[in-house]
Amino acid sequence: PIIYCITPTYWRYVQRAELTRISQTLKLIQNIHWIVIEDAAKKSDIVRNVISESKLIATHLVAQTASFEKFKDKNPKAKRHRGVEQRNAALNWLRDNLVLGKDKGVVYFMDDDNTYNIKLFDEMAKIKKVGVWPVGLVGGLNAETPIVDRTTGKVTGYRSGWLPNRPFAIDMAGFAISLDLILSIKNANFSYEMAKGMQESEFLSFFTTKEELEPLADQCTKVYVWHTRTEKPKVSGIIPGLEV
Ligand code: UGA
Ligand code: MN
Repeated sequence: PIIYCITPTYWRYVQRAELTRISQTLKLIQNIHWIVIEDAAKKSDIVRNVISESKLIATHLVAQTASFEKFKDKNPKAKRHRGVEQRNAALNWLRDNLVLGKDKGVVYFMDDDNTYNIKLFDEMAKIKKVGVWPVGLVGGLNAETPIVDRTTGKVTGYRSGWLPNRPFAIDMAGFAISLDLILSIKNANFSYEMAKGMQESEFLSFFTTKEELEPLADQCTKVYVWHTRTEKPKVSGIIPGLEV
C-alpha cells in the first residue's frame, strides 16, 4: 500500500525550507506518493526544484485560493479555512487517476509546516478505514488526543482545548483515511461553508463515526506529529543571486 501525502503550500520566505524538511522526512519512508498543491496561479520553480531534488514519487498540482476567500475577515489571522481548494484538487486527482479495488493505500493531509516523526508512517500502514492519533502543540493544550478506552480499544471522546465536543475534535494532522474510502465516497470534499474549526469534523463525518475510529500510536499514548508553526522571518534586504 502507498501512503498518499497531500501537502498544500504557498509562497513565503520559509516555503523552500518547509518543503525541504518535509521532503527529507518523506525520503526516510517507503511507498510514499507526495501530492503537492501550490496555492498559486502557476507552478513555481521553488516547488518544482524541491520535488525534483527529492526524487520522491510526486504529483505537482496548482489550485489557487480565490482572493475573496483569503481575507474574508477583518483580522487577517482569522482568514478563512486554509488549504480548501488545494486539498480538493488532490482529492480530485486521486479520484481521476486511481482505481477503487486496484490501487491500495491511505491518504494523509500533511501540511508543510508541521513536524513529523517517521514512526507515524508505520502507524498509517495499519489503517483499515480511518486511523487517529494525538497531535502535539495544538488545540490550546500540549497535545490534542482522542480518548481511548483501554479495555475496548475504542475512542470514547476527545481531549482538546478548542471545542472538545466537535464530532471529531482532531486536527488535520491527526488522522489518515484509507484510499478505498476516499475513492468510494466521491462527494467528500472540503468547503468554505464548513464552520470555523470544523473542517476536520465535517470531512471525517463523510467517512466514519467516532465508534469506528482506529486509535493508533499505542492507543493514542504517543505523540508522533506536532502542529509546529514557523515564525515569519523579518527580511529587510535581499542579497542578489542568493535564493532562499
Ligand atoms: C490549522 C490546521 O492544522 C490546518 O490543517 C487547517 O487547514 C487550518 O488550521 C485551517 O484553519 O484551515 P494552521 O497552522 O493554522 O493549521 O494552517 P497553515 O499551516 O497556515 O495552513 C494549512 C496548509 O495550507 C499548509 O500546508 C499551508 O502551506 C497551506 N496554505 C496556507 C495555503 O496553501 N495557502 C494559504 O494561503 C495558507
Ligand atoms: Mn500549520
